[in-house]
Amino acid sequence: MEEILSSEAKPPGRTPTIKAYALGKALHLDNLFLKFEGANATGTQKDRISEAHVVNAIHNGYNGITVGTCGNYGASIAYFANTYGVRSIIGIPKDYSHERSGFIQSQNAEILYYDGKYEETVEYLHDFSDANGYYDASPGSRNSYIDKMMYSTIATEIYEAIMKDPDYVIVPVGNGTTLAGIFAGFDHLFSEGYISKLPKMIGVSTKDGNPIVNAFKHGYSRAVDINPESLKETDINEPLISYRSFDGDDALRSIYESKGSAIYVSDEEMIRYSNLIYYKEGLNSLPASASAVAAINHMRVKRDDVIVSVITGRRS
Ligand SMILES: Cc1ncc(COP(=O)(O)O)c(C=O)c1O
Repeated sequence: MEEILSSEAKPPGRTPTIKAYALGKALHLDNLFLKFEGANATGTQKDRISEAHVVNAIHNGYNGITVGTCGNYGASIAYFANTYGVRSIIGIPKDYSHERSGFIQSQNAEILYYDGKYEETVEYLHDFSDANGYYDASPGSRNSYIDKMMYSTIATEIYEAIMKDPDYVIVPVGNGTTLAGIFAGFDHLFSEGYISKLPKMIGVSTKDGNPIVNAFKHGYSRAVDINPESLKETDINEPLISYRSFDGDDALRSIYESKGSAIYVSDEEMIRYSNLIYYKEGLNSLPASASAVAAINHMRVKRDDVIVSVITGRRS
């Protein structure tokens, strides 16, 4: 146990929450905050769940850890597995950009390029891990109960930093896990009496490429799969695009329960707002993450609303 806890990795979380004065001014907002998950060691919010999965794998005596990923989650699992001396196999769709592959290899991980879409890669890793005695950290696996718990810490950190009730919390969604976890955190703060109202949760994703946003727009009660053939993957939308959202129902429920909304933004908007965030606040955000600011342009907000945009990753 002592050995497990003596990791030399940068601990996940405790990321900055900044009041975006200059960006807020440009967007005519007096209370815009950015929660910058790009400050995590491997550059995204995934670090919050990865370390917990690696430690869980060790505690339960697995041979190694696997994950199906678009890249960012794989980089994060590889980093913590390497730090703790655990073998990792990272499954990435063959046709994805492989931007994180160099980093993943530098962490002594094995990469499995899967000939299929992201969702199929994840499903394959579910079976592969079962067959080979590996711990599966993939979305939708039996271990994914850890994810919501770890992401709920984002809500606590936002609350500690701003000490007021946010009106809106905007989160980029792919599987919807991050949004559902953050909402669970706020729900807890609300039921314990720390905040007096729940923030409206806003899920934002890539144009016509996400079941959660699609379901919200159609008024569905479940985040049903969308047609895989209709998806147009690009280097920009990769972290968000999916025909199946593994935690989509949970995310959709969070959005409905908080009286929030779900929004699509284009690649062009993501790039434009990523640049704007950089010029105004000096934060180098991944364009997909900048969608959490781009979404504001599609919302009806008041100048003094307290808005928190969760910038899930940095540009490498
Ligand atoms: C940078 C970044 N932001 C947001 C997301 C979406 O998170 P979730 O799948 O939890 O909705 C991802 C998923 O890979 C990501 O890499």
